[in-house]
Amino acid sequence: MPIEFDPKQQVFHLYTDGMSYVIGLIKDIYLAHYYWGARILTVHAASKWRFGQRPNTPTPEYPDLTLHLDTLPQEYPTHGRGDYRPPALGLTVLEDGVSALKLAYRGHCIERGKRPLSGLPAAFVTDEAQATTLTVELGDEAVGLSVELSYALFERFNLVARSAKIVNAGTRRLAVETAMSASVDLPHDAYDILHLWGAPLRERMVERQPLAPGTFRFGSTRGASSHYHNPFFALLRRDATEDTGDVYGFSLVYSGNFLAQTHVDHDLSVRAMIGIHPFQFRWILEPGETFQTPEALLAYSGEGLGGLSRMLHRFIRQHVMRHPFGVTERPILLNSWEAMYFSISEDRLLALAERAAEAGMELFVIDDGWFGERNDDTRALGDWTVNREKFPSGFAALAEAFRSKGLKLGLWIEPEMISPESALYREHPDWVLRTPYREPVRSRHQWVLDLSREEVVAHLMGVIDALLASAPIAYVKWDFNRYLTDVWSRALSAERQQEVAHRYMLGLYRLLAHVTERHPHVLIEGCAGGGGRFDLGMLQFMPQMWTSDNSDAASRIFIQYGTSICYPAIAMGAHVSSVPNHQIGRVTPLGFRAHVAMSGNLGYELDLTALNASERAAIREQVRLYQEIRPIVQFGDFYRLVDPFVTRDRASWMFVDEARREAVVFYFQILAEPNSPVRRLKLKGLDPQALYEAPELGFVMSGAEWMHAGFALPTLASDHQSLLIRLKQVP
Ligand code: GLA
Repeated sequence: MPIEFDPKQQVFHLYTDGMSYVIGLIKDIYLAHYYWGARILTVHAASKWRFGQRPNTPTPEYPDLTLHLDTLPQEYPTHGRGDYRPPALGLTVLEDGVSALKLAYRGHCIERGKRPLSGLPAAFVTDEAQATTLTVELGDEAVGLSVELSYALFERFNLVARSAKIVNAGTRRLAVETAMSASVDLPHDAYDILHLWGAPLRERMVERQPLAPGTFRFGSTRGASSHYHNPFFALLRRDATEDTGDVYGFSLVYSGNFLAQTHVDHDLSVRAMIGIHPFQFRWILEPGETFQTPEALLAYSGEGLGGLSRMLHRFIRQHVMRHPFGVTERPILLNSWEAMYFSISEDRLLALAERAAEAGMELFVIDDGWFGERNDDTRALGDWTVNREKFPSGFAALAEAFRSKGLKLGLWIEPEMISPESALYREHPDWVLRTPYREPVRSRHQWVLDLSREEVVAHLMGVIDALLASAPIAYVKWDFNRYLTDVWSRALSAERQQEVAHRYMLGLYRLLAHVTERHPHVLIEGCAGGGGRFDLGMLQFMPQMWTSDNSDAASRIFIQYGTSICYPAIAMGAHVSSVPNHQIGRVTPLGFRAHVAMSGNLGYELDLTALNASERAAIREQVRLYQEIRPIVQFGDFYRLVDPFVTRDRASWMFVDEARREAVVFYFQILAEPNSPVRRLKLKGLDPQALYEAPELGFVMSGAEWMHAGFALPTLASDHQSLLIRLKQVP
C-alpha cells in the first residue's frame, strides 16, 4: 500500500508516483513532520532533524535537554508546553481552566479507501482503490482527550486529504477553541504565499508575496467563505514559477468562517495551517462527544503553480463535485436576471425563451422575482410559491412550453434568507438569526434564517422538495445574498452560542445533502451575491458557481484567471451580458464577451429580444462553437499563458483535451497599444512530437514548435479584441 510504516524508524511514508509525505514519531510520543515534496525512494528519518541544546528553550522531556517543541516540525501542534507558535489545537478543561496539552501517540491504522466525514462535505472515492487512509491516534491521558488525525492519500494525485476528530474520552467537560483541519511545519527555506482576495464584483484577485518572520493570516468571520478571501492558498518555493518549482496547495472543504495562517519562526521554518476560524468559536464537548473538523486538501506540484492548478482541477471534478456532475457536460443557459430583473412574467419569458431556443441554448433560468410578492428586493424571501399573477399557468405548464422548444427549466431560490415583509416572517418571527436584545442588522433589506435549528432546516427541506416536485425543474440557482450578523440562537444555551456559526454550516450541509440525495439529477449552481461562497464545500453539492456579479468581460478576465488558480473552468458560471455593462458601464464587442464566457460554463444573461438579427446570428454561432469545444473546456487541462495581473492589458490561456489531440487557445487584448510590438505566443501542454493544425491561423506545426518557438500574434487594432484558436492533431 502506498502508505508504509517503518517500525524501526517509527516513520510513516505516504507516497504517490510524484510525491512523498513523511511523518514520524519522536521518542514514541510526538508526531513530527519530516518531509513533503517530490517523491523520495528512501527515508532516513534521523537525517531530517538536529537535536541539541538551545538557549532559553523549554525542555518538555526533561532530563533530555535536546528536545524542544518550539522548533520541532510537527503535524498537529498544541500550546502550553514550550511551542510558542500558533497551535493547531487549543482547548480548555472547563472545570479547572487547564489549557496546556500534551498530545502523545497512541496508535495508528492504515486502510484502503476513504471514509466520508460525518455531517461535512469531503473528497470522496468511487472505488476503494483510489485512496488509502492513515489514521493516527494521539491522546492526552490527563485531560481525557483523544485526537484522530486522518490522512487520505489519493494515489493518482499528489494529494493528501487531512482532517482531525477531537474526542472527549474523559469525564470532564472540554471547550475546543481552535481545531485546525491541518497544520504542516515546512523546513527552513524561502517561501512565497499566493492567495486569492477581493470584494464583491472583483473576487479572487491573485496576490503573491514573500513570507517573512512572523504571522501572516487571512480568513473570513462573515459566516461564509466570502468574496474577500478564498479558503485556499499556495506556498511556493521562492524560485517557483507558473511552470516550474515546488508549490504546496492548501484548500479547505468548507464554506463558513475560516482561517488560513502561516507563521515563519526564528529558524525560518514555516508553519502553515487552515481550518475553522477560532474567532468567536468555542465548541463544548461533553464526555463521550466528538468534534469533527472540516477537511483540508494538501496538494504538491513540482511543476509550478500551473501543475498545481491542473491537479486540483482534475481532483475537484473527480473527487469533490458530486457524481456525475464533474464528468458530464453542463447546459448552455439563458438567465433572466440582467435581461429583465424583477419585470418578469410568463409572456415576457416565453418571448425570451423563443429567442434562446432559436440560438440553440439548452436551459432557461428564471432568476429572482417569480415567487410571493417579490417585485423588488425588499420583500418575500421565504415565500417560495409561484406568483400566479406573473405566471398564471404555473411552472409545470411553463416547463412543458420550454421543453417543446428544447429548453429545460431552471429556478432561482435563496432559501437561507427571510424578508421582514414575508408571510414566513409573520408566521415564524422566531426563526430569524438574532440576539434577544435588538432588531437584527438588515443587509439587502433581509435577514438570515437560523439554520442551526433543526425545525428551520426541516421546513426548508419540505419547501424545496415541494418546489422540485411541482414541475420538471432541471436546475436551481441557490443564492445567498448577505453575510451573518447578530449570530445567536434561541435554541442553544449561553455557553454554546459560539457554536452557532459552525452549526449554521452543519444545518446548511444537512439541507444540501437532503436536497441532492432526493433530487440527484437537479444541477445546482451556487451563488452568493456573485462569488461569495466559491469554495470546495459548496462545490460538493453545487458543482458550478456564479463566479461574480460582475459580468463585464474585461473584469471577468482577471476574476476567472484568479479563480482558475484553484478551481476548474467547469465550476465557473460565465455569462455574456449586454452593453453598456450593467456593473461598470463598459462597452465591449460581443465576440470578446463570448470568448471570456466560453472559457467557463457559457451562459447568456441579456434580453435577446432587444438584439438585431446579426447579433442573434452571432450568438447562434457562438453557441454552436461552444457546443463543439465544450468537452475540452469543461474536462480538459488548463494552461495559463499570459498573466493579466502582470501585464494588466492582455491575457491568454488554453485548454488541452486529455489525449492531447485537440486544444483551444484564447487570447485577450484588454487595451490596445499604438504601434504594438510583435507579440509571440508560446503554447503549453501539447504533444511535442505530434503535428497540430490551426484552421483559424492556417498553419500546421509540431507541438514542440507551437510550445517552444510559438507564433506571432496577428495585430489587434483596438481595445477588447480577442482570438479563439483551435488546434487539432493532424493524423
Ligand atoms: C444576486 C445574484 C444575482 C441575482 C440577484 C437576484 O445578486 O448574484 O445573480 O440572482 O441576486 O436578486
